[in-house]
Amino acid sequence: MAFPINKFQSLKTPFYYYDREILKQTLSLVTEKQRQYGYHVHFAVKANANPLILNEIREAGLGIDCVSGNEVQCALENGFDANKIVFAGVGKADWEIKLGLEAGIQCFNVESLPELEIINELAGELNKTANVALRINPNVDAHTHSYITTGMEENKFGIGLWEVESICEKIASMKNIHLKGIHFHIGSQITDLDVFKVLCTRINEIQKNLEAKKVKIESVNVGGGLGIDYEHPDERPHADFGNYFDIFHKFLELRNGQELHFELGRAIVAQCGSLITRVLYVKEGQHKKFAIVDAGMNDLIRPALYHAYHKIENITSQEECDKYDVVGPVCESSDCFGKEVVLNKTKRGDLIALRSAGAYGEVMASHYNLREFAQSIMP
Ligand code: LLP
Repeated sequence: MAFPINKFQSLKTPFYYYDREILKQTLSLVTEKQRQYGYHVHFAVKANANPLILNEIREAGLGIDCVSGNEVQCALENGFDANKIVFAGVGKADWEIKLGLEAGIQCFNVESLPELEIINELAGELNKTANVALRINPNVDAHTHSYITTGMEENKFGIGLWEVESICEKIASMKNIHLKGIHFHIGSQITDLDVFKVLCTRINEIQKNLEAKKVKIESVNVGGGLGIDYEHPDERPHADFGNYFDIFHKFLELRNGQELHFELGRAIVAQCGSLITRVLYVKEGQHKKFAIVDAGMNDLIRPALYHAYHKIENITSQEECDKYDVVGPVCESSDCFGKEVVLNKTKRGDLIALRSAGAYGEVMASHYNLREFAQSIMP
């Protein structure tokens, strides 16, 4: 990536840098496929809620997928139509449900029978009808990190396959619920696309069973999860959207008039973002060198939390390479962005880019050690 380093020099580090061009290119790949097949893509705002990003996404015409009342509020404040908002989450509080009902969101993705009963009750109080999709746990292994696998029976998410039919029967007597569809989300950073074929097959079976019970399904939502290439952000700046959408087109048996919805987060925003940080000190140990930078795990927690890999580059130095452990200032050993990282020879004041940080970076930041939040720019 060609960073506008001149623009960076005067900025306070660390900061998130978002490349508008990459985001626009990604969005046009998504919207092209969306148009081709008549699909509906919602951006999973949990991946990035920065208004600069949301502005581009709204202009591209995507909807929004939320998992909290504040995310619903954020989507509304950033100009998204309520009728393009879907709202998932295993633990929706009453105020969050009411917020969604009052705003008139498109659909609640409901994760349990008790939740459904409360939505029915609250909708009754407000004299509204809630559109719901049942989030079904399809028991499909996403072959990804265990912390971000969600579609297995042992995960807390969704309604078990065994319970779906009886819940559909109960919905028939819930006055303030309209069953719109079924929803799935099996995990994140999925790079083995065959996993999505398995999901399609499972959904086809579920649809057949529901049809046999005369349950009408207007829309299917397959969630998100498409992975990106963290190792090669320059060679592969875009996720494999072509094959991804083609798989659903080929393997999912939609009925006449049925809508297909997606909730993509990471694949849309990860590659456009980098966390830019400055080297404070180069500390030489007996056996290794540490590049101590001014960004910490509070700014980007993915390496500490998931042992996630982010490509690290010294974007100032042109000198030949050396190896460094790149660490932050937070008082934890896990505050380490990479060990034995090969970098251009590094000195105090150099700028370092932590790549592919546009998804689950800025949104997961904290004030730990009472550190400030990093700023963001999108020139
Ligand atoms: N829909 C639902 C219901 C979700 O729970 C998620 C993500 C998505 C859509 C979007 O998934 P994506 O397309 O971004 O994979 N913090 C972790 C990722 C957690 C994902 C949680 N759910 C990370 O940094 O890797």
